[in-house]
Amino acid sequence: MGEGETEFRHETARLVLRDWRKSDWPEFWRLTNTPAVMRWLGGVQDAAGRMAAEERVEGYRRDHGHTFWVLERKDDAALLGFCGLKRSNQPGGPQDMMEVGWRLREDAWGQGYAKEAATAALDLAFGRFGADEVIALTVQGNTGSWGLMRRLGMERREDLDFDSADFDPENPRIIAYAISREGWQAAA
Ligand SMILES: CC(C)(COP(=O)(O)OP(=O)(O)OC[C@H]1O[C@@H](n2cnc3c(N)ncnc32)[C@H](O)[C@@H]1OP(=O)(O)O)[C@@H](O)C(=O)NCCC(=O)NCCS
Repeated sequence: MGEGETEFRHETARLVLRDWRKSDWPEFWRLTNTPAVMRWLGGVQDAAGRMAAEERVEGYRRDHGHTFWVLERKDDAALLGFCGLKRSNQPGGPQDMMEVGWRLREDAWGQGYAKEAATAALDLAFGRFGADEVIALTVQGNTGSWGLMRRLGMERREDLDFDSADFDPENPRIIAYAISREGWQAAA
């Protein structure tokens, strides 16, 4: 974050979405760099993979003013993972579209935290960040992730699907979901 820039911070009923601090990263990796969390994300990351991911997330903040923000629980300030907005940039996939994403530590699954955070991220995408449409991408095996896309009211967009060998070695297909501003307002 540039000097003098205000830290991004957004509260929901139970959560805070905020910018990263350097000290968040070791805690984030300790809690989320596990076989269960990373199952559909290329597996547990080594130091080089972790560094590259940190640079990507910090780069989105620098370039766009939004990123996959730190997710903190209000009750106890526990770091739960990340959720937020980037611009789609995977090789072979749709480019520069507003994309929502999420990654939570396993003991925070099943409590509606991801949906609560993603709802806030979509509100921010269509409000503060002026998007007309938001997409989300995952592999077919990641039922937890596309289940959330459906619970948010996002719809399949086969025209945006593509192949990537980076996530599921058995099935390279990346599947896309999307929601328009009108669709999001109608679902609210
Ligand atoms: C994808 C992921 C974020 C989904 O998290 P999640 O906790 O299942 O999603 P939600 O926040 O929508 O929670 C839904 C569950 O919480 C339950 N729940 C409990 N309290 C709730 C509440 N107050 N509101 C909503 N749901 C609630 C729901 O019944 C549902 O339970 P179920 O899964 O047993 O049916 C999570 O699995 C994850 O981090 N995976 C690993 C990283 C990853 O793959 N990221 C995506 C890459 S594309």
